[in-house]
Amino acid sequence: MRIASKRLAIPICLFWLACKKEPAPTASTVCFEQTVAPVIQGSCALSGCHDSTRSGGYDFSTYPGILAATVAGDSAASPLYRAIQRNNSPMPPVPFNRLSDSNISMLGTYIQERARTDLHCGDACDTTMVGYQQTIAPIVEAYCGICHGQPYAAGTINLMDYQHLEPFLQEGSFYSSIVHDGEYSPMPKGNLQLPECKLELIKKWKNQGYPNN
Ligand code: HEC
Repeated sequence: MRIASKRLAIPICLFWLACKKEPAPTASTVCFEQTVAPVIQGSCALSGCHDSTRSGGYDFSTYPGILAATVAGDSAASPLYRAIQRNNSPMPPVPFNRLSDSNISMLGTYIQERARTDLHCGDACDTTMVGYQQTIAPIVEAYCGICHGQPYAAGTINLMDYQHLEPFLQEGSFYSSIVHDGEYSPMPKGNLQLPECKLELIKKWKNQGYPNN
C-alpha cells in the first residue's frame, strides 16, 4: 500500500510542478513598475495624502508602504483595494474622481496575484513605441485622472480622452505644465513631477505631432 501511494504521488507531484512552471498568461499578469506604481503614485501618493508624510496613515510612495495596505492573494481583505472600490467614503476622497473601473480591477488582480515586484515585464522604460491609446492615455489617467476627468474636472479641464485633450495639446499648456517650464501651472498638482521615462514618452509623442493613434 505504502509503495503504491508513493508511486502515485510522484506523477501528481510532477504534474503539479509542470503547472507551476508554466509562465502566467500575459493577460493576467500585472507588472508593478509599468502598471501599478504609476496609478498608486498618481492617485494616492500626492503630497499631504499618502506620501512619506503619511498624513493619511499609509505611505504609498514606497513598495513596502503599498504592501502594508495589502493582504497578498486576497484583494477583498486588502485595505487598499477596499478603499478604492467602496462607494461609501471612497478613496481618493471627494471631490477627486474615482479610479477607472479598469484600474480598480487591475489593482485587484495585482493583489490576487500576490503583489509581486519580481515579474519579468521587460524594460521598465521602453520608449521604442509610443501611441496615444497604448502609452499616453494610461499615463494621463494615472497621473491626472483624479483631478481632470468626470465629475471632477479641475479648472474645468477634462483630459480623459483625445477630443478633450487636444485643445491643451495645441495651446501648449499640456506639455508646458508637465515639463515645468514656468509658462503654465506645474502639473501634476501636489505631486512629484512625472518620472523621466514618462516625460520621454510624451516628448516623443509631441515630436510626432501628438497623433491620435
Ligand atoms: C490634484 C489635482 C490635480 C492633478 C493630479 C492634476 N491637476 Fe492639472 N490642474 C489642477 C487644478 C486645480 C488646475 C487649475 C489651475 C491651478 O490651480 O493651477 C489645473 C490646471 C491644469 C492645466 C492648465 C494650466 C494653466 O496654467 O492654465 C493643465 C494644462 C493641467 N492642469 C494639466 C494637468 C496634467 C497633464 C496633469 C497630469 C500629469 C494634471 N494636470 C494633474 C489640478 C490637478
